[in-house]
Amino acid sequence: MVDEFIVTPWRVEGKIDYARLIEHFGTSPIDDELLNRLIRDAGEKHHLLTRRIFFSHRDLDKVLDDWESGKGFFLYTGRGPSGPMHIGHIIPFYFTKWLQDRFKANVYIQLTDDEKFLEEERGLTLEDTRRWARENALDIIAVGFDPDRTFIFQDTEYIRNMYPLALKVARKINFSWVRAVFGFDMQTNIGMSFYPAIQVVPSLFERRRCLIPCAIDQDPYWRVQRDIAESLGFYKTAAIHSKFLPPLTGPVGKMSASRPESAIYLHEDEKSIRKKIWKAYSGGQPTAELHRKLGGNPEIDVAFQWLYFFFEPDDVKLKKLEEDYRAGKILSGEMKLILTEKVLKFIEEHRARREEAKELLHLYMYDGELAREMWRKIHE
Ligand code: TRP
Repeated sequence: MVDEFIVTPWRVEGKIDYARLIEHFGTSPIDDELLNRLIRDAGEKHHLLTRRIFFSHRDLDKVLDDWESGKGFFLYTGRGPSGPMHIGHIIPFYFTKWLQDRFKANVYIQLTDDEKFLEEERGLTLEDTRRWARENALDIIAVGFDPDRTFIFQDTEYIRNMYPLALKVARKINFSWVRAVFGFDMQTNIGMSFYPAIQVVPSLFERRRCLIPCAIDQDPYWRVQRDIAESLGFYKTAAIHSKFLPPLTGPVGKMSASRPESAIYLHEDEKSIRKKIWKAYSGGQPTAELHRKLGGNPEIDVAFQWLYFFFEPDDVKLKKLEEDYRAGKILSGEMKLILTEKVLKFIEEHRARREEAKELLHLYMYDGELAREMWRKIHE
């Protein structure tokens, strides 16, 4: 990406200008009309939509055409199992579950243990990424997907059923093209140049339109998919893109494992969660007196931003927090405590469901209705 920020599938840095990303990637903003149509078809609104956290799309209008005409569509999303998951990772899965519930859609979830092994800078062994795939699957199952409409698979295991399609996709993509789209160079290992074919395959799992909820950094894969899908007799995939949950450390870049203080992990204990939020970047004034007098800036206050993104779904309550913060009636420390309680409650509930997920793993990966169908299937 240009000048002061970078967004690629491997790197997100700088202060992101999302309007310019839409232009640069050639996607479309979700305008009011499309938003209202989606909400009408879903039968309820979702704050990730109304607050424009999911802000960009490709062909979402065509997905709704297909749904309204009774043809339906399916959902596909994924996770690169490079380590433990944090709150920013799990939010798109909660949104995907909402879409599944509202549209009764099948969901395919790819765990890319191959991809995270091939990314050499990560220094992970294949055994590491395969183990993380299992760990991450539990967090994803904890989100509560419908076990008969969901198939979770890890690439190194499900590859037998993907390989024929991956080959057909790969033969349509030449090296100079992936080099341009993904920024590969002559030192990049050859596994990486084949990998995009693998990430494209699940978007071809059904002969109807696929909708991919994901963070905007994954869009380059869908660009490639859309260039080749029709020539193989499939639909171009649709996508709905999210912004990144801002790092606790300030409004720059995305949360990452190399900066553990920037994120809250789903397995973290209460003490460390409290401490991280307490140290979060704030939009307040240097002293309480000044804050009471001048007020704070919710636009850069990370605690408020997290409430806006996910943790305070109630618009009326959120508005009051914003106004009171601006007016200096709420101090930064108070905002952080409000967020802390919400995060702790969320994590506690998520973790209880993750415990239950251990008994359910086989359903999502092997024995559920959709899983069984997918293991029976060998692509033509
Ligand atoms: N490449 C993604 C990552 O590194 C994982 C992934 C695979 C994915 N398929 C996807 C993400 C589909 C979103 C949608 O995290």
